[in-house]
Amino acid sequence: MIAKRFFGRKLYTGKAFQRAFCIDELREVARRAMPNFAFEYIEGGSEDERALHWNRAALDAIRMIPNTLVDTSARHQRISLFGKEINSPIILGPTGLNGMTRYRGDLALARAAAAAGIPFTLSTVSNMRLEDVAKAGGRLWMQLYVLRDRAAARDILSRAERAGYEAIVFTTDANVFGYREWDRRNYRAPGKLTLRNMFDVALHPRWALDVLSHGIPWFDNIVDFLPAEAKSARTGVAYFNQLFTHDISWEDVAWIRKAWPHKLLLKGVLSVQDAQRAAEAGCDGIILSNHGGRQLDVCVAPIEMLPQMVRAVGDRMAIIVDSGFRRGGDVVKAMALGASAVMLGRATLYGLAAGGEAGVSHAIQILMNEIDRTLGQAGCRSLADVHAGMLTGAPL
Ligand SMILES: Cc1cc2nc3c(=O)[nH]c(=O)nc-3n(C[C@H](O)[C@H](O)[C@H](O)COP(=O)(O)O)c2cc1C
Repeated sequence: MIAKRFFGRKLYTGKAFQRAFCIDELREVARRAMPNFAFEYIEGGSEDERALHWNRAALDAIRMIPNTLVDTSARHQRISLFGKEINSPIILGPTGLNGMTRYRGDLALARAAAAAGIPFTLSTVSNMRLEDVAKAGGRLWMQLYVLRDRAAARDILSRAERAGYEAIVFTTDANVFGYREWDRRNYRAPGKLTLRNMFDVALHPRWALDVLSHGIPWFDNIVDFLPAEAKSARTGVAYFNQLFTHDISWEDVAWIRKAWPHKLLLKGVLSVQDAQRAAEAGCDGIILSNHGGRQLDVCVAPIEMLPQMVRAVGDRMAIIVDSGFRRGGDVVKAMALGASAVMLGRATLYGLAAGGEAGVSHAIQILMNEIDRTLGQAGCRSLADVHAGMLTGAPL
């Protein structure tokens, strides 16, 4: 509502993001900043978008019972993750095709994360090589899609190690690619926008100049493993169905574990049995995720599984949760339920679309301010003070 009142019919200007007070308002700026098909690529979920909506509903159902009359003058939100401190319990998650949101969007996200003192995760289907993104510094994680050609994954593992990445995040929930209907409606044929969308590009000259004047972005990390017709974002997305293999299995976890000597996390784990198996396979962490509602549409919200996971494997692995996080209060609720940290997808992408690197920093700052305020108002000095007993309506 607020977002509509303030941003409803205004035109996009490069500085509009600075006036956004919350992630929802940044989202409205992002919507104006780019053609509809590019915004819908970020925004959309699969099929009826039930999982997308349920992710929010499940978080909203949890409420907090604050403590009062606690001296909260010295507050902080730092946590320790894998033995090292980060400034806030948030991690920028992997998102593919960031180059369609902003030219060199991957680097902008990585730089903003490094400046904020939080980790950034680069997608396998990024539009920049992992070596170039490593120049951002900070704590870098590399997301791995094991594609039909396993050589692509082996190549990423060895390059990520040479470039100093701290962790591999093996995404397990894209064995069958999600059916995002908004996305499909925007194209007449693979790589061919509808006329309406072509007109829309013309209405967004700032975006077109930034993104398209450098040429359609390529999938730079895996380009050597793609056939000529799938190297660029124009046609590559339509090719994902063939690229993503249905046969990823625990055998892949075993060989990745052997090949990668640093931290290994599985992303897309939602059952307790799978979490236990991940621990037995020597993984260092799991990310409870339904890909932000972009894959299985009848999927449980990851936050619902968090307490069970903490009980089952919390003493053996880091448990990170994502999908639907838009406010600092959401993050504090997940931490109260025992999460090691929270991963973000769209929240910081809206910042990227709205204002490039400065927009991402703005999104991170909004969330950090909200986490700080939530802690103070709940009578907590740090995240060490929050616990499940402070919540009502939380999953068991
Ligand atoms: C535009 C977009 C692209 C994504 N690309 C990837 C990807 O390449 N690899 C991956 O593991 N997850 C990908 N995800 C899922 C995110 O990592 C994350 O799980 C999800 O966005 C979390 O939900 P949220 O957007 O509600 O925060 C993508 C999500 C979005 C929105």
